[in-house]
Amino acid sequence: MKFVRKKENTDRYVDTIFSVVGAAKADLLAINATAGCLYDEEGKLLTFRSVYEQEAKIPAARRAAYASSPAGNKDYIELVSDFVLDQRVSNHHGAIATPGGTGAIATAIMSCLDEGDTVIFPEIAWGNYKVIAAEHNLKMLNYDVYDLQDLFDKIDSVDGKVFVIINSPCQNPLGQAYSYEEWKKIFDKLNSLEKEAVLVCDIAYIDYATGDPKAYFSLFNEISDNVLVLLCASCSKAFSYYGQRLGALIAVNNDPEFLDHYINLCSRLARATWSNLNNAAMINIAEVLRDHRQEYDQELEEAKQMLKKRTDLFIRQAKDCGLELYTSCDGFFVTIRYDDNKKRDEDHQKLIDHHIYTIKVNKGIRVGLCSVPLKTVDGLAYKIKELI
Ligand SMILES: Cc1ncc(COP(=O)(O)O)c(C=O)c1O
Repeated sequence: MKFVRKKENTDRYVDTIFSVVGAAKADLLAINATAGCLYDEEGKLLTFRSVYEQEAKIPAARRAAYASSPAGNKDYIELVSDFVLDQRVSNHHGAIATPGGTGAIATAIMSCLDEGDTVIFPEIAWGNYKVIAAEHNLKMLNYDVYDLQDLFDKIDSVDGKVFVIINSPCQNPLGQAYSYEEWKKIFDKLNSLEKEAVLVCDIAYIDYATGDPKAYFSLFNEISDNVLVLLCASCSKAFSYYGQRLGALIAVNNDPEFLDHYINLCSRLARATWSNLNNAAMINIAEVLRDHRQEYDQELEEAKQMLKKRTDLFIRQAKDCGLELYTSCDGFFVTIRYDDNKKRDEDHQKLIDHHIYTIKVNKGIRVGLCSVPLKTVDGLAYKIKELI
């Protein structure tokens, strides 16, 4: 194609999610389970008072100003790192601010992998891993998230550097999560490798997991010198801040000198791509974490409970009527299991014909309970089972 670089992917970019979302919005009778955002029980996008009331108070001139550095505002980076790490990590770490979790994952990939290198990520996963990997001409290997041995086999099959993405807890789209014992096995595996291993922990939804989802962070304190952990955090989900485009990449390693170089490298990469982030958003999240933490924690807890009630009810009713779901713990989504993608396509269309809008994923149909009020969730599994 004229003008563009030789390796540019010139296929038409079609975002399958946004097209179904559009169709659902146009249907007045829709049960819209397409969204990747949390909605309240009145069907409105959930916003935290502690986040948005506070944001409105930031003077225009402060919002309008450039942020202080391509790596992000210093206080934001410190406060968000403390918030994410939650006093679990005594090992060395460094961070930069990023445009959402996506920016953190893209930075991890761009900073660690050369063209032709391999990225390992789940077989059933957030579609954007594939888009980012393809954009950088990477090889892709997929693993079954329910089978650790499969992950280990894929790790062993890679020549050279290992680069693996794990999206746990609240895996998108499965809702799957690794237990502490499973994480221990994953770290034992990575620590035993005699080559470099980069572990990307995509923790976009971690704030909505029940139990103690950060318990495994203590394993970062015992990594081998060959392991680099890159935590990719998203303010989109944690603060219901989707459009503001804010997140963080937090790197953990045994060598503080390496981390200093690494963060410097990521800062240059940031300068060369987005240059600078949303200043008002960084000011605001820093202030929420510094001055409104209790209020925020309370609102987050309420949101988490609201979501949990929906997933518990759906899973219970699915079990009751024999609608087969992938095993899930927590999260914005549950996924109906399919072995055959053709049958999945037919069923997905059947549901649309009956005003139930969901998202097709590899070997499954994702039901975004995050956007469906409890009263609509009640009975939804039965309706779906009847139709398919
Ligand atoms: C698994 C997963 N990781 C990361 C992200 C990144 O989100 P954002 O870039 O909005 O922070 C998403 C968003 O939907 C996601 O589902």
